[in-house]
Parts: sequence; C-alpha cells; structure tokens
Amino acid sequence: MALALPCPCPLRAAKCGRLEFLLSCLLFVGPSAAAGLGAEDALLVRRLEFLVALEPPAPINASCAAQPLPAARACTAPLFARDARELSRPSKIALMLLFNAEADSLEIALHEYAGVVHTVFLVEGTRTTRLGSKKALLWEQIQRQARFDVLRDNVVHIVFDDAASSAASIDVARSGNGWVVENAQTAHGWRSFLRWNAATRVFADHDVFISADTDEIMSREALHELAGCRLHGPVASGGLWMPQGSMARAFRPDWPASHAHPYAFGMPTIYRMAELLRGCANFASKACAVPGRQFGRSNMSAFLLGGMHLTHYTYLPHVLLKKVTTNEYHGLSAQDVAALSSVEQARALALREFTLDSHLDWKRRSVPVGLVRDFATFARTPWFLACNKARYPAWWGHADPREARIPEVMRAPARALTPGFRRLQRKL
Ligand SMILES: *[C@@H]1O[C@H](CO)[C@@H](O)[C@H](O)[C@H]1NC(C)=O
Ligand SMILES: *[C@@H]1O[C@H](CO)[C@@H](O)[C@H](O)[C@H]1NC(C)=O
Repeated sequence: MALALPCPCPLRAAKCGRLEFLLSCLLFVGPSAAAGLGAEDALLVRRLEFLVALEPPAPINASCAAQPLPAARACTAPLFARDARELSRPSKIALMLLFNAEADSLEIALHEYAGVVHTVFLVEGTRTTRLGSKKALLWEQIQRQARFDVLRDNVVHIVFDDAASSAASIDVARSGNGWVVENAQTAHGWRSFLRWNAATRVFADHDVFISADTDEIMSREALHELAGCRLHGPVASGGLWMPQGSMARAFRPDWPASHAHPYAFGMPTIYRMAELLRGCANFASKACAVPGRQFGRSNMSAFLLGGMHLTHYTYLPHVLLKKVTTNEYHGLSAQDVAALSSVEQARALALREFTLDSHLDWKRRSVPVGLVRDFATFARTPWFLACNKARYPAWWGHADPREARIPEVMRAPARALTPGFRRLQRKL
C-alpha cells in the first residue's frame, strides 16, 4: 500500500507536500520491510526470543556466594579526588541498562548488583535497535522467573513504546545511522528516570548515575568503591575485560578505558548526579543533556577498573538474536539459518562462534589472557557466572542443554510463541 503513494516514506521527495509525506509515513510498514526483514524474519526473531527466555535447566548453585565486600575502601582509583577519603555516607547508585533480549546476562548482572546498586532502570524498546523490527517486551515475560528474585523489586522497567520506537526506526531509515534507535532509547530512559525521581526523590546530588548495556558488568567490588569515595570530576568510565566468546582470551577493544590499559574496555559511563540533575530542572528541555554511553572517551584519565563485558555470549539463540537485532552485527547468513534445523549443525555453528572462526577479524585482535600483562587489574568474572559453570556452559565452549530444543522451536506453529509461551515452556 505504501508503494502506491506518491511520496514513499521515509524518503521525502522535494515535490511532496508535508501532509502527503506524513500520510505515507503513517502507512509505512517500517524500515524492517525496507531493509529486507520480512515476516519470515520477524517470526525467526520470535523463535529466538523464545529460546533466550527459557531458564537454564541447571539449578542455581546454592553452595556458592559472592565474596564479602571489604570493610574499608581504598579510594585510590584514578577517577577519585586525589585526597579522597571514604565518604561518611555512601552515594546511592542508579544504573540504567539498555536491554534487548540478553536474559542470561541480565541474570548474572542482577546477582552482581544486588546490595551495591540501589535501583536498576531497565530500558527496553518494542523494536530492535538494528533495522527496527518488532520485538517482544522480554522483561514482561521473564521477570517472574525465580532467577530474577535477587533484585526484581529494585528494577524499574522503562518501556520505549511503539510510537516512539517507530519514529526512531523511521529516522534510522532516513539517516542510515543505525545508532539512532539506541540514542533515542537512552534519551527516553533518562527522561523517564527524571520523572520517576521527581516523584520518588530517591536520588540527589550526592549520588551516582551509570549508563550501561546489559552485558557491561562492573564488579561489585568496583561499585562498592564507587559508592563510597568522592569523584574528582563529573564523568568517568569503567574498565572491563572483554573475553569475546572464550574466557581464555582477551579482546583488544577500539575504546579502552585508558591508554595504559589497552585491553580494558572503557564502559560503562559513570556520572556524578549533581551535574546531571542541575541541567535538567526542566527535564523535557532539549538543553537537558542525556547521559549516554561514551565508550571510554569521556575522560581517559578518569576510570575505575574491574568487571567483564559479556559480549558475544555464544549460547546459539543468544548470539543469533544479537546478530539480527543489534548494530554490532550485520544480520544472519543463510548458513546461520540452515544450522537451526538440526541439533548437530546448531552445535557446530555455536562452536565456530565460540572459537571465533566465524569472526576472524575479532580472532586476530584477541590474545590468550596470560599475555595481557595488566590482566589482573581489570578482569573480574561476575561471581554468579563463576559459581554456575553448569548453568552457562557456552562460556566454556560446551553444549547448552537448551540447544537440543532449537529444531523443535523452529518447527513450532507461530501461535505457540505467543506471550507467556506457556505451551512450549512445558515440554512439547
Ligand atoms: C558450586 O559451588 C561450589 C563452591 O564454589 C563449587 O565447588 C562447585 O563445583 C559448584 N557446583 C557446580 C555444579 O558448579
Ligand atoms: C580527567 O580526569 C582526571 C582524573 O580524575 C582529572 O584530573 C582531569 O581534570 C579530568 N579532565 C577533565 C577535562 O575533566
């Protein structure tokens, strides 16, 4: 229908009136169609969402817990004031996460944050950041799972709704900039945080705001230090180990936290609340700066090392969903899709992802961790991941038992994939 209109959205031709153009955009089926993500792909996204939402079958290891936090803080990291002493009253930490569908990584993250982060603001859109195709609101579907008991009540779900998502997706198609959706989600998350905070008055000048992705996990020790020491400047960054598939390797990122630590990824971005709030008395104002993820470029001298970037987690449905939906990847190949028809092919593909044989550029940029001289200063595996190897076998290159269900879910009728997923959640 959109094709028959004289002013095809999203490209406004000079001769088109504003009204005709807006009308064509109302009828526009979205950049997903323009970019070739048809109904079949949308169904594939739903199938993969189903598989990432499944709880890992291995039970949580009840005999393993986080190390107790140190009684005293050192306050010597480069982002703290030079004469910093431990604060008499620690700051509260607000952590804003952009969430696509990384259910397992979120489970690991929330266990790391319990007791050190005050509130997690989980920003989730109804469209994917890449291509802007429709997606399920996954948090709605997984939050009652027992694995999220640990911090569920401290999570505020911020939904980037379909009206806002569609507008951002159209901007992507128009500008060709795939990051528009993520930027719009960040701005929406920040304004929602401000509205929430204006009502609740939980956070004030004294506190700290962190802007992160779900898989960028600062260690509890670093967060504990952050809450209890005076920051020198308004903005700083974390510094995370980036294993990229195998835990035996470290990837050299484009954006290090500091030139002195080239293997420490400079994320997430840490902000002092005082400066952020000051510019946002009127939070709808364009002048209210949005605290985005700055990829270590905020201030290369102000950083706090410690944590892990759980990017390229190779549980196959997770990595394939990421390929279809996020900007870092470029979609699925025909071989990727074909591999989903049998358990053996799926396993073989997962292994190629794990060994980086399907990402030779990344492989060239990663080295065995033993060769990274300052590895011990920044690499911290989240305790919950270290304690639950059987729950996350993909991090060690082993088969995830949920992979055995891939062909069955690929064949299941679309109606079995509706929200709640009840029928398929039980054994078919
Ligand atoms: C559970 O944690 C304990 C203590 O760290 C460890 O010895 C054990 O191997 C873990 N069990 C599993 C199944 O991972
Ligand atoms: C960057 O951080 C360092 C260390 O905290 C600080 O001395 C310096 O003033 C900061 N630079 C800017 C431009 O904020």
